[in-house]
Amino acid sequence: MVCLGNICRSPLAEGILRSKVDRSRVTVESAGTGGWHVGEQPDPRSIEVAKKNGLDITYQRGKKFSAYDFETYDHIFVMDNSNYRDVVALAKTDDEIAKVTLILDEIFPGDNVDVPDPYYGGHNGFENVFKMLDEACEKIAARL
Ligand code: 4NP
Repeated sequence: MVCLGNICRSPLAEGILRSKVDRSRVTVESAGTGGWHVGEQPDPRSIEVAKKNGLDITYQRGKKFSAYDFETYDHIFVMDNSNYRDVVALAKTDDEIAKVTLILDEIFPGDNVDVPDPYYGGHNGFENVFKMLDEACEKIAARL
């Protein structure tokens, strides 16, 4: 799960998907394309909306996406088109590029829909992001 800062959207996506899969079989992690928040906990607003929905994401720490992640993971879900461009720019092969998809393609296939960045917005944004990610992760988990 990849977003820009790895403190708002992708930590939620990580927590939500992890809660829906068999953890002995599926590894879920998240990262940001930017490195400003490496080592930090998720944004308090993400922690709060997760908690309200029964998920603890306080143990997560910010990471920066690296080209090496293409070798480690089978699927790379990005939150928006800007993340898509930044991640694909690090890919070395067509197979690596093919691993990268917009997470909302799960619910709106081919419509190119972004998960809005809630960082500068109010609390409502986080609730909406949670709902979108929950729906998308349900589809991903069913397929995995
Ligand atoms: P995220 O939101 O990509 O959903 O984690 C952001 C968090 C921090 C920043 C940008 C986006 N930032 O510029 O610090």
